[in-house]
Amino acid sequence: MTSAAPIRYLTGITTTGTPHLGNYVGAMKPAVQASHRAGIESFYFLADYHALIKCDDPARVQRSTLEIAATWLAIGLDPKQVFFYRQSDIPEIPELTWLLTCATGKGLLNRAHAYKAAVDRNAAAGADADTDVTAGLFMYPVLMAADILMFKSHKIPVGRDQAQHIEMTRDMASSFNHLYGDHLVLPEAVIDDAVALLPGLDGRKMSKSYDNTIPLFAPRDQMRKLIMGILTDSRMPGEPKSTEGSAVFQLYQAFASAEETQSLARAFAEGIAWGDAKQTVFERIDREIAPLREHYNAMMANPGQVESILLAGAAKARAISSPFMRELRHAVGLRALQSQAQTSAVKAQKSTAPVFKQYREADGKFYFKLVDATGAVLLQSPAFDSPREPGQLIARLKAADAQAIEQIRPWWQSDQSPELVLAQLTEA
Ligand code: TRP
Repeated sequence: MTSAAPIRYLTGITTTGTPHLGNYVGAMKPAVQASHRAGIESFYFLADYHALIKCDDPARVQRSTLEIAATWLAIGLDPKQVFFYRQSDIPEIPELTWLLTCATGKGLLNRAHAYKAAVDRNAAAGADADTDVTAGLFMYPVLMAADILMFKSHKIPVGRDQAQHIEMTRDMASSFNHLYGDHLVLPEAVIDDAVALLPGLDGRKMSKSYDNTIPLFAPRDQMRKLIMGILTDSRMPGEPKSTEGSAVFQLYQAFASAEETQSLARAFAEGIAWGDAKQTVFERIDREIAPLREHYNAMMANPGQVESILLAGAAKARAISSPFMRELRHAVGLRALQSQAQTSAVKAQKSTAPVFKQYREADGKFYFKLVDATGAVLLQSPAFDSPREPGQLIARLKAADAQAIEQIRPWWQSDQSPELVLAQLTEA
């Protein structure tokens, strides 16, 4: 059975924090589920070069890398089935970053949301536009584009906030391809609005920047305490409660089945006490998380094992990135010197190389011609009754077959000799 080439999905997580329930529900769990689908190839990586852009605490970067890697493994990602690696183990990524940098307009990067927000904050504070803005922040979208383009990824599941980066990746890939030929694949963002946006402890979106997160693998007691602390209104036990806008309810919904959710909605209407509702939420989440937590803790206690899984993953990923980088280096002219003269000559010929065109006229007969890059006709054939004869003749001409050249000499219309022109074709 033959199957179409797989669609490649790529997901990266910046290694600056500890995975929380929001990351799990909104990104990691759906990504692992998707990796089991047929016809797709999945790439998961730890974006530790990206971490350096916002974090200068080495211990935290290291710790977060371990935590995120252990989380992926604990929730069921199978490193044998997917590509699972650490960004900084792939030297081709920073290398490609530079090639893209040189094909990217500075103006494109000026428009990046994260950079613009930093500049706007400075302006609002009356500070110099570039205060505390590193060149790393400015270059962030290029590094991200390299992550994506390195593996010819098709689909990038991201939150809305990252959609612009995928657009910019497409822009960079187009510029590069325009300059050097069709090497890079233009990716698409996949934004799933159905995926639950989890509320945090204070009811706002769960996010590290709001400091309102519940760590996915917090010890059981701590997880319970955090859930008990979720902000609610002050309705008393027995008073009906609204599910609308309730963080407690939304959290439950993200883990529970439709029936379970309905039954909690009924309990809300019947005036369940907040404490009891939270206990229900805790128990439902714990039911799913507890077995994963054990796996997680085992890996956190054995970082060497996680390290070797990542190194094996890097070797697997580099089997793709390393030959592709060789192709790209060649494309931009970073080449062995002896190959340079030859290939630039090929390119010159290629761009001006004439092409054969086969066609059928209204008379029902078959013709072919040879046209150069300017559109000038170098050779015009007479009519043939079937397409086979011209097809075979063209093949022989492309091979510079001497008899074939004699045959077409009467139809030749150029000042250049057929031998010379056809020799170009065979070299191109
Ligand atoms: N910028 C992403 C984030 O902060 C992380 C990331 C880095 C990424 N490189 C990527 C995501 C490539 C998708 C594809 O969430």
